[in-house]
Amino acid sequence: DLADIGVTGLATMGRNLARNLARNGYAVAVHNRSHSRTQQLVKEFGGEGTFVPSEELAGFVASLKRPRRAIIMVKAGAGTDAVIDALADLMEPGDMIVDGGNAHFEDTRRREAALRERGLHFVGTGISGGEEGALNGPSIMPGGSKESWEALGPILQDISAKVDGVPCAVHVGPDGAGHFVKMVHNGIEYSDMQLIAESYDLLRQALGATPAELAEVFREWNRGELDSYLIEITAEVLDQVDAETGKPFVDVVVDQAEQKGTGRWTVQSALDLGVPVTGIAEATFARALSGHPEQRAAAASLQGPKLSGVGGRELVEDVRQALYASKIVAYAQGFDQMAAASKEYGWDLELGAMATIWRGGCIIRAKFLDRIRTAYDANSALPTLLADPTFAAALDAAQESWRRVVTTAVQIGVPTPGFSSALAYYDGLRRDRLPAALVQGLRDYFGAHTYRRVDKEGTYHTDWSGDRAERPA
Ligand code: 6PG
Repeated sequence: DLADIGVTGLATMGRNLARNLARNGYAVAVHNRSHSRTQQLVKEFGGEGTFVPSEELAGFVASLKRPRRAIIMVKAGAGTDAVIDALADLMEPGDMIVDGGNAHFEDTRRREAALRERGLHFVGTGISGGEEGALNGPSIMPGGSKESWEALGPILQDISAKVDGVPCAVHVGPDGAGHFVKMVHNGIEYSDMQLIAESYDLLRQALGATPAELAEVFREWNRGELDSYLIEITAEVLDQVDAETGKPFVDVVVDQAEQKGTGRWTVQSALDLGVPVTGIAEATFARALSGHPEQRAAAASLQGPKLSGVGGRELVEDVRQALYASKIVAYAQGFDQMAAASKEYGWDLELGAMATIWRGGCIIRAKFLDRIRTAYDANSALPTLLADPTFAAALDAAQESWRRVVTTAVQIGVPTPGFSSALAYYDGLRRDRLPAALVQGLRDYFGAHTYRRVDKEGTYHTDWSGDRAERPA
């Protein structure tokens, strides 16, 4: 019998996705470069459903129902092109190749265009939720053509996470839209983690709290508006004790945060689009700073403030508020970036739908996303999430705490780039007049770059080196 869908690349994510498909009643063709992995999968999990194993790619393609649906689950990078080419050569017009890795959206756009030329559908899809999600229900963000969604959508919705019965899988938009949205998801993931890390660090330094005590704080926070997967697992990680030394686990881990690149891509794209994603950028740069041990060693003798251990238990609630407010800012920025990309690439992204599919399955899943969805339901053309009445009220309620937190952090010398930059963004965006006017004046002075006036149309230049009179430019 022919398989409904296939998965090639059976490392953990691919294997779990194949099992998820099989458990949902689909006959799944499976293939891996080294066949032993395929055999292992069938041997261990064959009882979960119908697997159709193939040793060669040709056999894999031949084992698929037409139009064929093949999901590639290989490490993103140059290797992906080779797998796509090999598959495409074996396929026929109308067939679909799905890339479920974290590919760069520009690569996905290029690949989609190339395969479209050959009559094939190429679907770059974000899949979030790690190993566990792939097996039990991830959040799925597919791009590609409408036709491909018609053939793939029902399957993807079946295997995705559900929240209130709503699948966490939707057709994001054409070509690279799915991978773009997954990239921003990851950028926001960086920002969420940075804000959590700053909360932990500040409370530990200011109050002298132990990781285990802080685990309890996060557990408590997880019962309120911060309720989310990352807060939940923060408590787990902080509670962990190293078996070898008996120390808190977090104290035996090398403090250099690594990255595979999606956060960096988010920031690079945001620079191109002109969208200030300061929360994601600070999170990415904080990882970069941590990863320079030689500079850190050289700077270790630099002086900090004399003050330490300020504040009492009220700091805990202040930090909770600062975390929530900064999180709103980071998401607002990420959603701005998706809106800008939608315009730039003609994707017609529905922002509320992105909030909907991030409510479950993915790493940034949180109660909070329901609020974002509601905000876009109320106004799909919202210029910024900060202006949504619910979020505006939340920010207002948080701002005194938020300012105290940043002040305290500065006073005792604990870096909180996430909190501080989010607050600066908030204060910048709400300003009536910004000093950008002075920047424009300086640009006009040294480079005749011209400026616009508040009181009439047109562009102007002042003859700074001559009579200092203004003339239309
Ligand atoms: C997900 C995760 C997943 C992966 C990140 C890790 O949504 O399931 O985001 O994609 O864990 O790529 O990213 P870094 O290695 O860059 O931190």
